[in-house]
Amino acid sequence: MNNLSLSINGQLQRVACDPLTPLADVLRDGLRLTGTKIGCRTGECGACTVLLDGEPVLSCLLPVAAVQDAKIQTVEGLAGDPRFEALASAMDACGGAQCGYCTPGIMVTLTAALRQPDRFAPGEYEAALKNNLCRCTGYRAIREAIAQVTAGLQSQEMTAGPARNSTATSEGAEALGQADALGKVAIPR
Ligand code: FES
Ligand code: FES
Repeated sequence: MNNLSLSINGQLQRVACDPLTPLADVLRDGLRLTGTKIGCRTGECGACTVLLDGEPVLSCLLPVAAVQDAKIQTVEGLAGDPRFEALASAMDACGGAQCGYCTPGIMVTLTAALRQPDRFAPGEYEAALKNNLCRCTGYRAIREAIAQVTAGLQSQEMTAGPARNSTATSEGAEALGQADALGKVAIPR
C-alpha cells in the first residue's frame, strides 16, 4: 500500500493503494467515478478512456503510480465544456447511445478531438474513435451526432468570430464537477 496524490477533474485526491493498481479501478472503486467503464481490461474496447493532460488514454492499462504528475479528467469532469454538452445533446437526439456502456469513453475521446480542431478536419472526427468499440449502434448514429456537433460549431464560429480559448473552457468544465450532461444520454453505472 502506498499513499498517492492524483489530480482528478481539477481536484487533488489522495488514495492509498498498490501503486500497480490500474487507474480505472482507482477511479471507479476508490473514488466512485463510475462514468469510467471497464470492458476488456486489455486495451481493446476504449470503455475506460480518460484524459491524461488532455489526451485520451486507456485507464485499464495505466498503473496509478504512473499518472501522479498528470492532470486526469474523467467523463464527470467534462461537464460545462460546450463541446461535451453539444455532443451529449447530439448523442441523445441521434440515438448514439443504446446500452450506453461505450458512451462515456466515446464522449471523452470525441471531446478531446473537438478541442483540437487543428488535428481533425470536419468529417474526420470519427477517425478519433479508432480505439473505441460500440457493439450496439453500428456507429451510424454516433457519426450523425458528430456531424451535428461539427456543423453547429462551424456555424457558431462563423457568427461569433474566433473560437473560445480551449484551455479556459477546459478549466471551466473542471470547476463544474459532476457531469449534468450525462443525464441527457443513458449511461449505466
Ligand atoms: S477496459 Fe480498457 S480498453 Fe477495454
Ligand atoms: S451503446 Fe452499447 S456498446 Fe455502444
